[in-house]
Amino acid sequence: MKNPFNAQGPTDPRYYANRSKLLDLFKHNVIWVAKSKGVTKPVNISIMGRWGIGKTSTLYKFKDMLANDCGGARIFAAVISLKPASCADADTFSAALLESLLNQYKSTSKLDRKIRDFVNDELRVLEKWRLNKLSLTPEIERREKGLRAVNFSDAMVRLWNKLKAGKFDIAVIMIDDIQYVLNKDGGALLYDLRTDMQTLSAADTRFMFVITGPANLYPDIRDAAEPFTRLFEKFDLDTFDFEGTKEMIQKPLKVENIDLDISDDVIRKIHEITAGHPYFISLVTRDLLNRKQSGKVTAKEFSGLYPDLAEHFARVRFDDDFANATDAERRVLLKMVSLGKDEVSMSEIKISGCAKLLDRLVKKDIVVKLSRGKYKLYHKLFRDYLRKK
Ligand SMILES: Nc1ncnc2c1ncn2[C@@H]1O[C@H](COP(=O)(O)OP(=O)(O)OP(=O)(O)O)[C@@H](O)[C@H]1O
Ligand SMILES: [Mg+2]
Repeated sequence: MKNPFNAQGPTDPRYYANRSKLLDLFKHNVIWVAKSKGVTKPVNISIMGRWGIGKTSTLYKFKDMLANDCGGARIFAAVISLKPASCADADTFSAALLESLLNQYKSTSKLDRKIRDFVNDELRVLEKWRLNKLSLTPEIERREKGLRAVNFSDAMVRLWNKLKAGKFDIAVIMIDDIQYVLNKDGGALLYDLRTDMQTLSAADTRFMFVITGPANLYPDIRDAAEPFTRLFEKFDLDTFDFEGTKEMIQKPLKVENIDLDISDDVIRKIHEITAGHPYFISLVTRDLLNRKQSGKVTAKEFSGLYPDLAEHFARVRFDDDFANATDAERRVLLKMVSLGKDEVSMSEIKISGCAKLLDRLVKKDIVVKLSRGKYKLYHKLFRDYLRKK
């Protein structure tokens, strides 16, 4: 059975729906840089949004466009997924970035010999650095702290010079989940990255950086490294409107020649239930396809096929959301539900320390902060779920 919907990972670029403004901006920027031979500078982009909204999918879509849809420009592109461990300190961070981006080109036939040799040489140096670091005693390591042994911007300038000699037009470095950088040293690593980006720009290289992070990251970054934000054009990924939901459901069916006709009524229903959230749309459509593969689905049939929807959502998501909240935070959540309306203001909650608690719930992505001091739960079905608690 063919089922192209998968909620557990980024989408196949061929199925990627919606977001045409962002895709166009990205594509044209790359083409302009390439066509103008670098007179037009690359615009760095930051993509922010709640969990499951499509940040990682967007990076892979970008990567796919760079390979297939950018007017034949020669482009070096790498997607780097950050992990907490790669952000332990400045050296580790630089090494992780370099290793990750070089490894993606280690054994590709897309590069000519000279660049491949360069990539492998650089990787050997990094490996040596890693071995040295492992053998250092904590005592020496403490003394050596502050010395940056891995010089990110130098290595990147060397890389660009090789790429330039190989007639490359631009290099696009995409870093997924930048929030891990903030966990350590309150943003000191971001300062480093920013300085490196400025150095690279001044050195006349053509690197374009794309980063992703959670919707509520920017206030944090602003405190920690305000000028960092100026280096990026910011894009917020939001939930889909009806047309977006429709495209997300229909595109994979078309690409895979699956002959299931899902009526607009059903799509409207799915849109309503999921509130246009891509992760939940994936989940519902995947289940629907598991139950029916061909013919036409009507609204009535859909309700019959899917009576246990709320339970399914609870199993895959809401149980965890609730488990991740502290007792005090849960009291705030339950109070919000008991008020019986969509949006509540802080003054209505009347629980001591509720400003802080709400703040933490927003950080955990289960409460959304609206304007004018109003708050709401992140999903309608989550509210129903809590009501039963
Ligand atoms: N534009 C899109 N078109 C089609 N499917 C999408 C799109 N955006 C997201 N999805 C689907 O939504 C789900 C979540 O996407 P993704 O993993 O990219 O989100 P994310 O923002 O990176 O999430 P996280 O915060 O957990 O890292 C996946 O099932 C993916 O297939
Ligand atoms: Mg992701």
